[in-house]
Amino acid sequence: MLSIEIRPVELPELDDVIRLNRVTLPENYPPQFFQEIMSQYPKAFLVAKSGSFTVGYVMMRIEKSLSLLRWVNRAHVISVAVHKSFRRQGIGRRLLATAAERCNEEYGAVEVYLEVRVSNNEAVGLYRSMGFVIKDVNQGYYSDGEDAYVMQAPLPLPMVRR
Ligand SMILES: CC(C)(COP(=O)(O)OP(=O)(O)OC[C@H]1O[C@@H](n2cnc3c(N)ncnc32)[C@H](O)[C@@H]1OP(=O)(O)O)[C@@H](O)C(=O)NCCC(=O)NCCS
Repeated sequence: MLSIEIRPVELPELDDVIRLNRVTLPENYPPQFFQEIMSQYPKAFLVAKSGSFTVGYVMMRIEKSLSLLRWVNRAHVISVAVHKSFRRQGIGRRLLATAAERCNEEYGAVEVYLEVRVSNNEAVGLYRSMGFVIKDVNQGYYSDGEDAYVMQAPLPLPMVRR
């Protein structure tokens, strides 16, 4: 069993994250965007390390939204990915659970939400396994026209299996 460390990303690792993002997902961002998230939400941008190898990452940011006439903080999962050879070992779940916990404890987020392609069974399976539910469908959300499920869970997460 490999030992995987989950911890906040460090500046020299941003290139690893950008590369992993490009090979695993069609949704990519300019390097400056990764730097901004790292400096604004350092506790919510995590990497999974196997020795010096970056095998996964998760990026979340905090957004304000109105709920029952009060402003609340919500954690938005911008991107999460695990290297192909390291999947199905619980790393995605650990990344998400740890970042969600930090968003709750450090930034006061009361819920976490994300968009996911309706065809992305692996990711939908992961989110469901952690207590996320489908709240909405955003028609044509992605640049190729695919719809997105909007999935959401309360914080702290109801099921934190790590
Ligand atoms: C989605 C992703 C991050 C999951 O990472 P992972 O480390 O393999 O996930 P985990 O091992 O933590 O899986 C946790 C649970 O998710 C579900 N799951 C994960 N992969 C699955 C698959 N291929 N099929 C069905 N369910 C799956 C299972 O419930 C699993 O629990 P179990 O192994 O105890 O049955 C990974 O597949 C990935 O990087 N995909 C490409 C990038 C991507 O699609 N990101 C999401 C964008 S919204």
